[in-house]
Amino acid sequence: MPLHLEPGEGPPSFVDLISTAAYRSMAAALRLGVFAALSPKPLTSADLARTLGTDPRGTALLCEALVAFGYLEQADDTYSNTAPTQKWLSGNGYSEVDRFWATVLFDSWDGLEDSIRTGKPALDFYGWLSDRPETLHRFQTMLSSHADSIAPEVSTHVPVGSTLLDLGGGHAKYAIRLCTANPTLHATVIDLPEALAVGEEAVAKSDLTDRITLRPGDYDSLDLGTDFDTVLLFNVVHGRPAPANQDLLTRVAAALRPGGSVVLLEHDEHSEDRAGDAFARVFSLNLFHGQGGQVYPTAEIESWLTTAGLTTITTHPLRTSPGQSLIIATKPA
Ligand SMILES: C[S@@+](CC[C@H](N)C(=O)[O-])C[C@H]1O[C@@H](n2cnc3c(N)ncnc32)[C@H](O)[C@@H]1O
Repeated sequence: MPLHLEPGEGPPSFVDLISTAAYRSMAAALRLGVFAALSPKPLTSADLARTLGTDPRGTALLCEALVAFGYLEQADDTYSNTAPTQKWLSGNGYSEVDRFWATVLFDSWDGLEDSIRTGKPALDFYGWLSDRPETLHRFQTMLSSHADSIAPEVSTHVPVGSTLLDLGGGHAKYAIRLCTANPTLHATVIDLPEALAVGEEAVAKSDLTDRITLRPGDYDSLDLGTDFDTVLLFNVVHGRPAPANQDLLTRVAAALRPGGSVVLLEHDEHSEDRAGDAFARVFSLNLFHGQGGQVYPTAEIESWLTTAGLTTITTHPLRTSPGQSLIIATKPA
């Protein structure tokens, strides 16, 4: 929350009790449209309630809490967004990230003890997403916007020939970028049907329907094909248990031509920055809980690649996405 509290001599969890309530209240404000409604001008809580169609007393109490947490400011009887709230949370940009994480943390972490007790994911994350079309669309849109910002740098590292397979490539932004930059490249994107709906729209807009094929299905059971120059596995292995990754990488190696390369995009296990490192732990725990995955050490990923018969493994930290790296391995010629 924007308000920074120190635990002092008291129980170490007290500040977290407030932070958790602050994040949940912020999510309620986003979902109800509080920050958007206060964007043009400050309002009294009664006017805000009228605008939102909410209960006046509940709205007043939420506003008071949001002032205490540092999201709103109060002057006389009117409330306004603080400057950071106005910048990040009053529109549809970054606030989509908070809407996504609030749903994940408050709706899906209920059985966290169960996944840790049993070692089995407490939910099937992609099934859970497909039951929530709005959250699924938000998830793919977040990945797609991130891809827009890093694809220019990513494409400078990806070895390209004439055929490319993107496994779990949903929004298709990497295939679009690489096909645009390489006029003879043909790409195939495999993903679950709901995720590919986002890709379909983007491919149609990019006018690349003749060079990008979208194949709906499960990459664990589909025939992946053979003789690809390049296979992309971006943000995929962290969402799966280690044995499933070993199996998939062995099938990926069989789908490459000799001399072809697999390129993985993954989060670094640790970050220098303390907040970045703490977020990596949240991300990793969430992957374990929802998918049986985690942020894997690079050495473990390298061992899967080696077991799959791939060599010449190199790692390329991304300047445009600090804390993420590309890992590239080649099938011996
Ligand atoms: C974390 S997203 C990464 C998307 C994209 N590669 C990127 O980096 O932006 C993982 C993708 O894998 C897809 N996926 C998950 N399980 C799958 C499966 N069994 N078969 C095909 N796609 C799957 C998801 O739908 C999702 O689009």
